[in-house]
Amino acid sequence: MSQTIHPFLSEIAEEVKRGGISRRDFFKYAVICGLSVSAAGKLIGLTGPEIAVAASSIDWKGLEQESPFEIKNLLIQKAEEACAKSGCSILNAGRGNPNFLNTEVRKSFALLTLFAAELAQQGSTVKDLGYRQGKSGMAAALQEFLKKHHGDPGEAFLEQAISYALSKVAMDADEIIFQLVDGIQADFYPDPPRIFPVTEQIVRKYLDRVVFSGAPPQGDFHLFATEGATAAMIYIFNSLKENMILNPGDKVAIVTPIFSPYLELPVLKDYGLETVYIRGSEEMDWQVPDSEVAKLKDPRIKALYMVNPTNPTSVSLNADTVKRMAKTIRIHNPDMVIISDTVYASFVDEFNTFGKELPENILGVYSYSKYFGVTGWRLGVVMVHEDCVINRLIKKLPKAKQAQLDLRYRLISTKPGDIPFHERLEMDSRQVALAHTGGISGPQQVAMCLFSLYELTDDDYVYKKSIMDILKKRWTALYTALAMPEPQGKNLTRYYALIDLKKLAAKMYGPAFSEQLTASHSLEFLFKLAENHHTVCLPGEGFAGPNWSLRVALANIDEKNCRDVGLAIVAVMKEYKQSMPA
Ligand SMILES: Cc1ncc(COP(=O)(O)O)c(C=O)c1O
Repeated sequence: MSQTIHPFLSEIAEEVKRGGISRRDFFKYAVICGLSVSAAGKLIGLTGPEIAVAASSIDWKGLEQESPFEIKNLLIQKAEEACAKSGCSILNAGRGNPNFLNTEVRKSFALLTLFAAELAQQGSTVKDLGYRQGKSGMAAALQEFLKKHHGDPGEAFLEQAISYALSKVAMDADEIIFQLVDGIQADFYPDPPRIFPVTEQIVRKYLDRVVFSGAPPQGDFHLFATEGATAAMIYIFNSLKENMILNPGDKVAIVTPIFSPYLELPVLKDYGLETVYIRGSEEMDWQVPDSEVAKLKDPRIKALYMVNPTNPTSVSLNADTVKRMAKTIRIHNPDMVIISDTVYASFVDEFNTFGKELPENILGVYSYSKYFGVTGWRLGVVMVHEDCVINRLIKKLPKAKQAQLDLRYRLISTKPGDIPFHERLEMDSRQVALAHTGGISGPQQVAMCLFSLYELTDDDYVYKKSIMDILKKRWTALYTALAMPEPQGKNLTRYYALIDLKKLAAKMYGPAFSEQLTASHSLEFLFKLAENHHTVCLPGEGFAGPNWSLRVALANIDEKNCRDVGLAIVAVMKEYKQSMPA
């Protein structure tokens, strides 16, 4: 049976022949467009036997599981080509990096760096060379320095931040300042590698405000500072595997739609996990219906993970959803590990976390990347409760397995069996053998402290309101251009918008048109958007969202651009309408 070949596939087939695109990438795009291996092979001029070799050497199943997110680079290329012809500039609404950033903390960071460098020079007679200083008197020295620099950029906030830290951190003043100065100086390896005690106390207070809305559950959370949420997730998966909590063939549940790399991670050969999607319902504004919650009763599901509030829908789970899911887990699967990425928690007025309902089950992941505009800094953290369920699960492993684990961790302790999971996480992040030089750098940790203190001293939430206001204006601009009702709610980040093209089509030209439109491949819509309107959005399908949907990232483009994206989507819809028989 002959297959329809998307024109862009014919184009890239030519590019493959010229050597500009690898065969593997071509096959990947072919899979995404629903082409068979033999039709794809023919397109790039392979003979029958060559196609047979390609079919046997390429992991076709694996390719099918790679997400259409991959298509992004092609879309950018298409938009750039269009712009090269017309002289326009590309409108990239595919990037999740914010274009806003906090400036005040950066200034105070520079001032603290200056203090540390000048302090090191005390007593030195050698040009450009200083020495490590002792703790004693360091807090007073900083006060003197701040007096001298009164009115300098960053001084007012640094003074406020230090005074907050001195009043709230349970530590001697010289010790607090020493740890901050030592961290920013970074002349020693980070010690302890998991996190500095001062960082742990300050960041914990920040998370109490952002994640727990000021009311954390009983018991302390231990923190592990990581290179962003990205590293945090990888460290968690690795450590769960090393500690035999997640084993190949185990099931993990994922609340969808979700940030696409998280769909791909568990099925990698490294983990070999089976995924069960807990599908949010569009009709319920992306909350999880009971029928999906019921899937969590399956005892073969060892872990559940989610992004909350999520990327791509911008929605965070409401109190009812969290309670229903937590109840099911408590009754049917009390040992389930819950991994919750709360990167976007800072952007909502109402946030409900599993960390309150099931603190012992949660591995919380937070990142400073988005809220403070510090993606390049790599600032993230993992939270593990002091009575974490994983510690109990490790003790329950068969003796032979525990002995195997003891061999792994005996390098560090004479009682390896007693090493708690939050310490194992750090050790595993450096394959145990190099654990003593693990951890993120001192300057990163001090930056985390200062960003946390910035939020903690902002009693009236001025910064948060400014950020939310920027995103709200962009959101309104997009939905106004689409002539669609603007989703409302205290649980929306408005960082991304997931646009349901099927619904938009029905609204613009009626259900029959919508049916006709969605009979073709949804990627075509994105190509038209890129080629005809130099606008790049990502396919919602890549996030396990509806297949005729697209994601617009609002954090990286201004209000006018948000409106232009909306208008471009509407224009493509019109083009479809005009090209279809009446
Ligand atoms: C849900 C989610 N988690 C994590 C990340 C990456 O975070 P980080 O910069 O802290 O690695 C992103 C980035 O887009 C994201 O959307």
